[in-house]
Amino acid sequence: MKRHPALEPFSRDHNGGLFAARKLSQGLAPEEALLEFAELWREEMKDHFDEEERLLGRLCLPGELERLIDEHKRIGALAENGTPAQATTLGKLLNDHIRWEERSLFPAIESRATPEDFDWLERETAALEDRRAELPRNARRAELVKRRRSDG
Ligand SMILES: [Fe+2]
Ligand SMILES: [Fe+2]
Repeated sequence: MKRHPALEPFSRDHNGGLFAARKLSQGLAPEEALLEFAELWREEMKDHFDEEERLLGRLCLPGELERLIDEHKRIGALAENGTPAQATTLGKLLNDHIRWEERSLFPAIESRATPEDFDWLERETAALEDRRAELPRNARRAELVKRRRSDG
């Protein structure tokens, strides 16, 4: 499905999140998968969760916001204190959370946001995209975004 450009930076984060979730869910080398995820959490996902709550919170219905915050808390707790035995649980939570956002929450927000909401959101998520571009692991992503921005 086509994402509104204002939400694309979040969706680009989701690609990395889904990749990490798959690795965690497989249950192979759970220690390694957990360590890798802890790094992604510190460098990107925690910021991602905080920004979703800050930027999308007021565009959510009460039930959606409750679910967003609740799942962020559960995933965050496991990212920071989870044991290898909880790696597959974390992977499943993260996968299902991202799928819910991509399939339900983001389309709902796109259907109710005003042009003014989108303008504001686009400026804010562009700043998030710039932060991501500073990380070496995102070199390809940064290149793609740069090209797209210069195409106007
Ligand atoms: Fe989220
Ligand atoms: Fe998300």
